[in-house]
Amino acid sequence: MRAGWYEKTGPALEVIRTGEMDAPRPGPDEVLLRVRASGINPSDYKRRSNLKVPAEFPRVTPHSDGAGVVAALGAGVTGFREGDRVWCFNAQWGRPFGTAAEYVALPARLVRPLPARTSFIEGACFGIPAMTGYHAVHIAGAIAGKTVYVPGATGRVGAYAVQFAKWRGARVIASTGGGQEAKAAILGLGADVVFDRKTDDLQARILSETGNRGVDLVVDVDLPGNVGLDEKIVAENGAIVSFGAASVPTLSLAMSGRKARNLSVHLIFVYMLTEAAFEATCAGINAAEDAGALKHRIGGVFPLADLAKAHDFAEHTTGTGHVVVEC
Ligand SMILES: NC(=O)c1ccc[n+]([C@@H]2O[C@H](COP(=O)([O-])OP(=O)(O)OC[C@H]3O[C@@H](n4cnc5c(N)ncnc54)[C@H](OP(=O)(O)O)[C@@H]3O)[C@@H](O)[C@H]2O)c1
Repeated sequence: MRAGWYEKTGPALEVIRTGEMDAPRPGPDEVLLRVRASGINPSDYKRRSNLKVPAEFPRVTPHSDGAGVVAALGAGVTGFREGDRVWCFNAQWGRPFGTAAEYVALPARLVRPLPARTSFIEGACFGIPAMTGYHAVHIAGAIAGKTVYVPGATGRVGAYAVQFAKWRGARVIASTGGGQEAKAAILGLGADVVFDRKTDDLQARILSETGNRGVDLVVDVDLPGNVGLDEKIVAENGAIVSFGAASVPTLSLAMSGRKARNLSVHLIFVYMLTEAAFEATCAGINAAEDAGALKHRIGGVFPLADLAKAHDFAEHTTGTGHVVVEC
């Protein structure tokens, strides 16, 4: 089969190769996927580019997310048939073989049916980005009638957080540093109000939008960088969900002087949800997609032969959507 891989960490154009490899066979409880589209996420290019550590395995075929067709079933697998359209998650979490290949053999619990309306390219975005956005929006409880603030709403995760929050009946305030075009894109996802995080007084504008009450939930792409704002705008009994820490790795949270004296903080890591949370998250994503509630922002599609270029592109662009490789 055709596949992509790296054997040492480093810049994409230097370490990623594509070529022929033996196709895997499905073991017990595994599904063999004919991968049609493979999604690239920051964790994929951060692991590949991190020169401080060696590659996790002698040879890594990258990417956790993908979509394709069931090609064969291992012993004991029920619930799937050959030819089923499916999406997958966590393919390269703790394993050397991800989805950047024509075939991948995966534990069946990492494989879900792909909604009929969804293309393979769109399905390749369901894993890390949609699952993180979904889990972030749901972890602190029901949000119908509540107000959610999503900074970085042009991001792969942020864009889904906006849409899941709207689908669940919340009012969504978002922000972006990407200017007018980015604002328009976020309004197109259904956000009620979008601010410019570089030029607007976010604290004043968000408090004004909520009658000084504050927001019930923040879904933050950079909590260490934004906590100073977040603790001034979260309403009493509100919650902050953090999925990223781009600026600094340590969080400094005020113990007094916050707006909300009762505040919950959730630091989430999508690869390691409980099985119950995986179930609820995957089912919720498929339900939202079946309901037509999701738009998928595709920023680039590359052939598998250009895997190195795809990684390089994904690593050096932000806020423009998903980068997907067709296999
Ligand atoms: N914990 C987890 O399980 C998990 C899961 C998925 C991703 N992540 C991490 O989350 C981060 C984002 O991933 P992604 O795929 O969504 O990336 P992405 O598509 O590149 O989006 C990142 C967005 O962050 C925004 N941004 C950057 N700095 C910001 C700041 N200081 N305040 C507010 N917004 C800021 C930008 O939006 P604007 O330019 O529009 O402001 C950009 O669109 C990555 O570091 C990734 O590793 C973690």
